[in-house]
Amino acid sequence: RTPIILDCDPGHDDAIALILALACPELEPLAVTTSAGNQTPDKTLNNALRVLTLLQRSDIPVAGGAIKPLARELIIADNVHGESGLDGPKLPDPGFAPQPINAVELMADKLRASPVAVTLVPTGPLTNIALLLANHPDLHSKIERIVLMGGAASMGNWTPAAEFNIYVDPEAADMVFKSGIPITMCGLDVTHEAQIMDEDIERIRAIGNPISNVVAELLDFFMIYHRDPKWGFTGAPLHDPCTIAWLVAPELFNTKACWVGVETQGEHTQGMTVVDYYDLTGKPANTLVAMGLNRQGFVDLLAERLSFYN
Ligand code: BDR
Ligand code: CA
Repeated sequence: RTPIILDCDPGHDDAIALILALACPELEPLAVTTSAGNQTPDKTLNNALRVLTLLQRSDIPVAGGAIKPLARELIIADNVHGESGLDGPKLPDPGFAPQPINAVELMADKLRASPVAVTLVPTGPLTNIALLLANHPDLHSKIERIVLMGGAASMGNWTPAAEFNIYVDPEAADMVFKSGIPITMCGLDVTHEAQIMDEDIERIRAIGNPISNVVAELLDFFMIYHRDPKWGFTGAPLHDPCTIAWLVAPELFNTKACWVGVETQGEHTQGMTVVDYYDLTGKPANTLVAMGLNRQGFVDLLAERLSFYN
C-alpha cells in the first residue's frame, strides 16, 4: 500500500477526494492536514473532522495548518463552496479532536516515523507543504512524490492566467516546484476533463449508501457554481479527486514530463504555472503534468469505489 498524507482545504471536491482515498485499499492514509483556502482555516479543519467523523475514521490523525499564505492575505472561495466550505449535505459535528500540533509538525512526525518514503497529496494552497520543506530539509528524502491539484498549462479559473490553489499562495507553490521532489500536477488541463454530469450524480445517488448519498449532495451543490454558461461545462469539474485517481489508476491519464515554474511577480499572471510543454528552455523536467483523462474511466472508478461503503 502507498502511504499518503492528504493536505486539503475541504471544500466539496477535497471532501470527495478524501472519501475516495479512504475507499482505496491501495492507499494507506497516515494523516489528514488542512490548509486555508476554500474557506478560513478554522472551517477547513472543522470540515475535515466532519468528513472523517462521517466515515467513522477517527483513527486518522488530523491537524490544522497555516492560517494564511506565506506572504499574502488569504483569499477564500465561498462563492464556490458556500459559507461553511461544505454547504449542501447534512454532515455530523466532529466526533473527535484534532491533534494538538500544527499540520507541518504532524506531517514531519509521520514522515520521520515511516519506514518508507511517503506520498504527499495536497489539494489546496501549498502553504503547509512549503513550510514542511523549508523547516525540515532533512525529511525531503522521506517524501516519495507530491501529487497535487493545482495550476494549468492552459487557462486559469481564478484569474485568466491562474488556478485558485496556486493563486492563493504563489510563493509557497514556487518553493514546492523548485524543491527537486518529484511532482505530479493534476491541473485544470485534466480536471476540466473530469466533469461529473447530472447522470453521473444520479448513478452515485443510486448506489444508495450513506456516504454515496453525501457525495451526491456535495455534487448537487458543487454543480450550482459550474452551471454558469461562461465555463462552457456540461458538468462540474471534479478537480481534487484526480490526484487520488492518478495514484490508483494512472492508466486513465495522459501525462508529460515538463519543467514548470510559478509566476509570483507578473502584472497579469501572478499564480500562473508556466509549463514548458515543448521544452523550449531546455530546463530539466521537474513535474509530470497530467494533460488528458479518460473521463468515463474516472467516473467508473469513483462510482465503483463508493460501493466500498455499502
Ligand atoms: C481548486 O480550487 C478549489 O476551489 C478546489 O477545491 C480545487 O482544489 C480548483 O481550482
Ligand atoms: Ca481543494
